[in-house]
Parts: sequence; C-alpha cells; structure tokens
Amino acid sequence: MSGAAPAGDERARAQELRAELRRHNERYYVLDDPEIGDDAYDALLDELRALEAAHPELVTADSPTCVVGAEPVGVLEKVRHPEPMLSLANARSAEELRAWVQRMRNHLAREGIDEPIFRYVCEPKIDGLAMSLIYRDGVFERGATRGNGEVGEDVTHNLRTIASIPQRIDAAPGVVEVRGEVYMSLADFAALNERRAQAGESTFMNPRNSAAGTIRQLDPRLTAERPLSFWAYGVGAVEGLELGAQWEVLAWLRERGFPVNPDIVRLDSEDAVVERCLDWQARRGGLAFEIDGVVVKVDDAELQRRLGVVGRDPRWAIAWKFPPTTTVTKLLEVRWSTGKFGDLHPYAVLEPVVVGGVTVGQATLHNEEDLARKDVRVGDDVIILRAGDVIPQVVSPAPHAVEREGRAAPPIPPAQCPDCGTPTIKPAGSVFTKCPNLECDGRRRQLLKHFVSRGAMDIDGLGEKQVAVLMEHLGVREAADLYALTAEQLAELEGLGEVSAARLVASIAASRERPFARVLFAIGIEGVGEVTGRNLAQRMRTIDALLAADTDAIAQTPGIGPIVGALICRQLAEPGMRGRIERLRAAGLRFAEEGPAPGAGPLAGRTFVLTGTLPGLTREQAGERIMAAGGRVTSSVSKKTDYVVAGDSAGSKLEKAERLGVPVLDEAALLELLGDGAA
Ligand code: IVH
Repeated sequence: MSGAAPAGDERARAQELRAELRRHNERYYVLDDPEIGDDAYDALLDELRALEAAHPELVTADSPTCVVGAEPVGVLEKVRHPEPMLSLANARSAEELRAWVQRMRNHLAREGIDEPIFRYVCEPKIDGLAMSLIYRDGVFERGATRGNGEVGEDVTHNLRTIASIPQRIDAAPGVVEVRGEVYMSLADFAALNERRAQAGESTFMNPRNSAAGTIRQLDPRLTAERPLSFWAYGVGAVEGLELGAQWEVLAWLRERGFPVNPDIVRLDSEDAVVERCLDWQARRGGLAFEIDGVVVKVDDAELQRRLGVVGRDPRWAIAWKFPPTTTVTKLLEVRWSTGKFGDLHPYAVLEPVVVGGVTVGQATLHNEEDLARKDVRVGDDVIILRAGDVIPQVVSPAPHAVEREGRAAPPIPPAQCPDCGTPTIKPAGSVFTKCPNLECDGRRRQLLKHFVSRGAMDIDGLGEKQVAVLMEHLGVREAADLYALTAEQLAELEGLGEVSAARLVASIAASRERPFARVLFAIGIEGVGEVTGRNLAQRMRTIDALLAADTDAIAQTPGIGPIVGALICRQLAEPGMRGRIERLRAAGLRFAEEGPAPGAGPLAGRTFVLTGTLPGLTREQAGERIMAAGGRVTSSVSKKTDYVVAGDSAGSKLEKAERLGVPVLDEAALLELLGDGAA
C-alpha cells in the first residue's frame, strides 16, 4: 500500500520526528529526566507512524517506530564475535583481591615493569546477559549474545526493542563493538510475573532467567512487551578509532547516549576498592536491579595490554563475588519428584520469599538422608540458601522452629510413586526410595532429559520442557524415538515453525556423531557417569564386548569397584536395557570407541583427575582430550593418580592432591602435556 511520493516537507518532518523521539528516548531511558509526558511522546510517535505508513519509503532501519512493525525471525542465527567475549576470574574475599593485585605485580615485573601504578575502575556486576553490539559508521548493525564466548546468537531484532540502546551514534567512524549487559529490573520483573500469573501463564524464576528467555524470543513484538534494560560497560573490536583507558571508554559511551551505570567509580588503592566492594555488598538489596558482585578493572590501557589474557580471563580484571544469600520462610509442604532411575527426590514448597532480590517458592531437599539429618518438618520456619545461580536449598529449621510445640511428624517418602502411582520400594543399601516401574512417565521424562543434556548427547534445542511436549504430543517414549521424528511432525507442535522444526531434526541427527563414551553415559545406566562412561568405552572398545563382559571384567575398569561393577552388569542384562540399546544402535549411534586403546598415545598409562572449572575447556572436553591421547580419567584422587588438573573453585580434590603430593596442573600445563602448549 504505497501512497503518493512524499513531498519534501514530509521527508523533513519524518526526519525531525525521528530526531525528537531519539532525544526523548535518551532523556527518559538514559538520563532518567524526561522532558515531556507519555501522552506527548505517544503523539509524536503516532505522527511518525502515520507518515511512515503513508510513505513506506520514508522508513529507516533505525527509526524509533521500527520495533512495532518488526517481523519475527525464523531462528536465531549463530554469529562469530569479532573478538572473543571473555569471562572473569573470581575473588571472594579481601585476601583474594589482594592476591590478584600481587599476581599482576609479579606478571608485570617479569615484563620489566617494576612499580606499576594501578588505578581501578569498579563497576557493579549486573546479573543479566552479556551482549555484543556492532555499530558501523554510527549505525547499529547487529547485536549478539555471548554464547560460548566465540560464537553467540544474533538477537538484533530484540535489541532494537530496547529503547535505551541507541540505533545511531555520533562521531563513531568505522566499526565499534559495544559490550554490555542486558537485564530486567526488579520492578519490571515483578510486574511481568504478576501479569503472567494473572493470565494463567507460568512465571519466571528470577530476573536473569526472564531476561534470558526474552532476549532469545523469535518475535520482537513479544520482546517489546517485556521490558529489558541495558548497561554498557566496555568495547570489543574497534576499527578506525583510538580508545584509551577504561574510564575514558565509559565516558565515550556515555557521551554517545549509552546507559552507563552512574555508580561506577575510579579508585587509587586496593583498600579503597575493598571498601567499595563491601559497600556495594551492603547496598545490594536496595538496588533497582540484581547484581552478583563487583567487577574491578585496571584502568590503564597499556597495563591492560601488558597483562593480557590467561585462558578465558583477562589478568587485568576480576569479579568480586558476593557471598550467598540466606533468608527464613515457612515450609508448606514436602513433595517428591521421580528421577531417571526411579529414585524419589524430596523438595520443599515454601511460602514465597525474596532471597537476594529473587522470589523463591521451591527449594531442593536433596535426598531422604539429608532430609532426615536436617530434621525439617512441615510448618517449620526454615533457612533458605541461594548461592549465585544455583538452585535454592533448604539448609535447616530456623533455631526457634525446633522449640515449637506441636511440630509435624518428620516427612516420609510416599508409598506410591507421585508420577505413576506404582507402590514404591526401598532397595537395601540405597539412600533412595524408588518407583520400580520402568514404564513410569516421570522416570522416562528424566531419562530423556538426561539423554539430550549438555554432558550427554548435547542436543541443541531440546531441554526438559521440550522433552515433556514431545512425550505428550508425539508419543515419544525413549531416546531412540527422537531419531525417528520428522520435521513435518515437529512443525505441527505449537510454537514451533517449519524452520525451527527442520533445525531440531538436524541437531538430533548431528548427535549421532557423539563418541561412544558419551553414548554410554547418555543411555542412563546407574553407576555410569561421565568418567566411568569414558573409561568403559576406552577399555571395552565396543558395546558388544561390554554386553558380553561379566561383573569381574567390568569391575576392573578404572573407577569401578565390585559393587558398582555388579550394579552395571545387572542392568545390562535386563531385557528392557538390551532393547533400549538395540533400538539406539538401529538409530545409528556410535557403539564403538575410535580413540587409541589403553597403552597407546602420549599419555598412555597416566591417570588424571579433573576438578573445578577450567577457563577454556569444559570438563567433558578436557576428559575427551586426555582420553584421545591415551590417558585415563578417574573421579577420585589417590596415590595412583598421576596428575590433578585444577580449575576455578577446585575444592577437596585439590587439597587431597596437595596432601598426597600429586602434581597439580592448570589448563595451560595440561594443554602443553597434550602437545599444544602454544594455544
Ligand atoms: S567485563 C573484561 N563488566 O560478567 C571481560 N562484565 O564473568 C569481561 N558482567 O559475561 C566482562 N557486569 O555478562 C564486565 N561491568 C561489567 C559486567 C560484566 C556484568 C558479566 C558479563 C560477563 C561476565 C563475566
């Protein structure tokens, strides 16, 4: 519907309106100081919309109206970041912060810089999602999520709905990649959940989850209904422009209309930094958004360059992490969920309570033993702990709760499976009461969820929710059924278009390439974790050899003793398990090991234990690399362990290694052993 060619004054008016609206957006979202009311703003927007509707040729990509007319995208395209998006090492105390400064001094001393003068920029660590925004010649061109740091997802269509992100910036020739955090404010989060609850929709667990779900929407009109916000905190790739210290980068961003947190400070001493971090820690609950720490950055650009990057973390920055948050609330009910081996897990239904800015209504109670040890009863006030982004947990009854008269009886496991109603059993020696029904839907759902998960078959696009939908609507009962799904079937599901359906079929098909070790882990055999899966694959070589092996042969695999050996052997003999394996074999999964046999490869005969988070490799990847070089990976440290590979937050395994004198490697040293020290 294109009208007559726009007259010159219409073109000029459209331009004027766009500039006006942009200025008001900045006043409203960035300066928090609106000049006009909502009605006046809407009148301007309506006028521009009417002009653009009459003359579509007047619409520009960066028009403030473009959000409204934006079309949904089919899938989120993968994009490679021009410069990797790094992560940050953590400090949890003043000592750890000082140790970081000392490490920097040592590093610079080796570089011949003896008395570096550090100035530090302290920024709130926003609990949202890192974004990369690319501006070319001042126009916002593309925005992407962090993803794995190298490759993220294109969410430009959604970022355009965030009014505080400028569509166009001045005095920015060439290419500038702006980095920052997309988040949802606590007020917006509460309002969104309220609306969803009233509409009978499920509510989001916390602002971060809800921002994550929103930014990955395919339809920007849905995104526009869920208010997201943005703080800029740095730049990535820059061409045709010289930017200096962090403090100047922030000023540059602010001048161009990016929201930069006004609480950011530059400080001269470690003491002042520690004081500031503690101050933020104390004020954390009073902010309008969630923060999970403070990012401390060395200001000077030249020092940053000299300090460089170790693994995935810049040496010149660190995240001061806040301690976990606890609170007290009432335990309303203990419920049980069925795990992948029929094991029943207790969880707490709580009177909803805000912990560290997040409303918590459920918390885990781990298992029966733990439940008994904690001695919590329905009706008790209980202490809840939420540490970072882990699932909230019930710690204990509140001290006063234990004294209360008329406490309820200790909760006991149900006599019938909460999912299928089958009478439960308590096998001798097990800490779990179990549902013995192999056909139990709850159990099958958990098995499938495990099968598709990251460390197992890692099927992109499938998680707990999708698995439940496939079971309910497409009659999927077990893993092998996934490989028979067609794009046509999937496209019929609500909310899945043709493109996504085709993509899902492709990612299911791609999982056929996972190595035998992962397949063994994914099948869901009690006693076969990631590590034992790898060791079994390496030792047995083929599924037929494993199926033919007796308890003794299995028990001789590193990391498996006689008890677990018998447990594994017993399950592999079950007709149900045999059928499950044969159907997966028929679906084309790998059932033979392709790496070197034990005794071959540069790490032959060496035993490794992995602990903590490595900067550049996941534990699975590290394990796969070690095995591919002929080494063995076990899960516990003993005198027979040759090396412990320790990353961030390594705990008791690292201590034990030190006590036993087992050599400890970091990721760089491991890579060197593997023969790519240069990486
Ligand atoms: S700087 C220099 N600054 O924290 C390298 N990150 O663990 C890295 N984050 O993925 C990022 N607020 O999502 C930086 N002021 C801030 C931040 C911040 C939040 C997040 C970001 C990143 C993660 C790093």
